[in-house]
Amino acid sequence: MTDHSHTFQTKLLHNKHKADEETGAVSVPIHHASTFHQTDFDQPGRYDYSRSGNPTREALETTIANLESGFRGFAFASGMAAISTSFMLLSQRDHVLVSEDVYGGTYRMIHDVLIRFGIEHTFVDMTNLEEVATAIQPNTKVIYIETPSNPLLKITDIQAVVKLAKANECLTFVDNTFMTPALQRPLEFGADIVLHSATKFIAGHSDVVAGLAVVRNEQLAEKLSFLQNSFGSILSPHDSWLVLRGLKTLHCRLEQSSRSAFRLAHALAKEPIIEEVYYPGFSFHPGHSTHLYQAAGPGAVLSFRLPDENAVRFFTKHVQLPVYAVSLGAVESILSYPAKMSHASMPSEERKKRGITDGLLRISVGLENADDLLQDFQNALAAIKRYDTPTRGLQV
Ligand SMILES: Cc1ncc(COP(=O)(O)O)c(C=O)c1O
Repeated sequence: MTDHSHTFQTKLLHNKHKADEETGAVSVPIHHASTFHQTDFDQPGRYDYSRSGNPTREALETTIANLESGFRGFAFASGMAAISTSFMLLSQRDHVLVSEDVYGGTYRMIHDVLIRFGIEHTFVDMTNLEEVATAIQPNTKVIYIETPSNPLLKITDIQAVVKLAKANECLTFVDNTFMTPALQRPLEFGADIVLHSATKFIAGHSDVVAGLAVVRNEQLAEKLSFLQNSFGSILSPHDSWLVLRGLKTLHCRLEQSSRSAFRLAHALAKEPIIEEVYYPGFSFHPGHSTHLYQAAGPGAVLSFRLPDENAVRFFTKHVQLPVYAVSLGAVESILSYPAKMSHASMPSEERKKRGITDGLLRISVGLENADDLLQDFQNALAAIKRYDTPTRGLQV
C-alpha cells in the first residue's frame, strides 16, 4: 500500500502493485486479453475492451499518477501519442503558447498538424516571463513547457508560468521527460498535465516506445480518458509491463547517471575546443536557481557546442562508448546530433534561430563508469585537436 511518508525511492517499489492481490505475484501480471467476459449487460464489469481499459496498463497508469502526485495517469503508444492526444483537448481557433526549443516532434505536431485543424500557436522564449505574458491572446488555452528544454537545457519557472496561465484561464502542460518525477513534479507547482516520453528515463533500457500523461483533477481525467479511448493510441499490456519494470530502478539509474553527467559537464567546460556547455547544474547557468527550486537535481542530459559540423563528424567518429543514436535516458550513454536527429523536423533557419547549430551535440549519460566515459570523451576531443584548429577543412 502507498504510504505517503515514504520517500520517492521507496514508493517506486512499495506501492499498490507491490504484489498481486490474487496470487501474490511480485511482478504485475501481463493481461494480453483484448476483451473481457461480461456476465450481465445491465452491469458491465470493470473492464470490457482493452482499448478502454486494461489491468496491466492500468497498473502503470495508477503508478505514474501516484509518482507525479496527480489524479489519474494515462499510458500511450509513444510520447508523441500522449502529447498529441492531450492537444486534442483544444478546439478550432484555440491558441497555444509553446517553448521555442521544444522537442522537434512536438514542434512538427503543432506547426504542421494542429494548424490544419485551426489550432494556432506562438513559439516563445519561455524563460522570459514578459515575452510569455505579452504573447498570451484572448484565445490562448494552453501554455506548453519543456523544462529543461531540449536540447539547450533552458529552464522555465513552472510556478510563474502557471500563475500567468491561471490568470488567463489557460491550462499548463509540462513535458517532464528530461527530469522524470524522481527529480521534478510539475503538478505540485500547479501544472495541469504532465507528459512523458516514457521511452526515455522512465523505461530506461532502450527497449520500448511509450508515452504517459498525468492530469491534476477529475475533470481533466474524464476528458483525457474520453480522448484516449476515442483516439485509441494506447500502450500495449506487454509494453506497459516493460515500463513498470524500468520504473523500479528509475531512482538509482538517474542518481548514478546524474553524478556522472555532473563530472562530464565540468570536464567538458574546461576544454578549449568546446565553445559552450549547456547544463543546468552549473552555478552560472542562467536558470540554475530556478531549477534548484523546482527540481531535485540537474539530471543526466547536457549539450555542448563544437565549432562546426566537421568537428562534430570528427568527434562522433572517435568517441567509442556512447551509442550514437536518436533518444536519451537509457542505461547506455546516448550521443545525439540534434540538427540531424531530434530537431531534423525543424527547418534549418528555425533551428539556427533557436541556437540549435550544426556544432551542437547532446549527450544523455548512462551507467558506464564515469572515469571511462570522461577518458573516452577526452580521447575524441584530442583527436580533433591533433588535426589542429580551425576545424573547418578537417578531413575525417
Ligand atoms: C522531450 C521529449 N518529449 C517527447 C518526445 C517524444 O516521445 P516518443 O519518441 O516516445 O514519441 C521526445 C522524444 O525524443 C522527447 O525527447
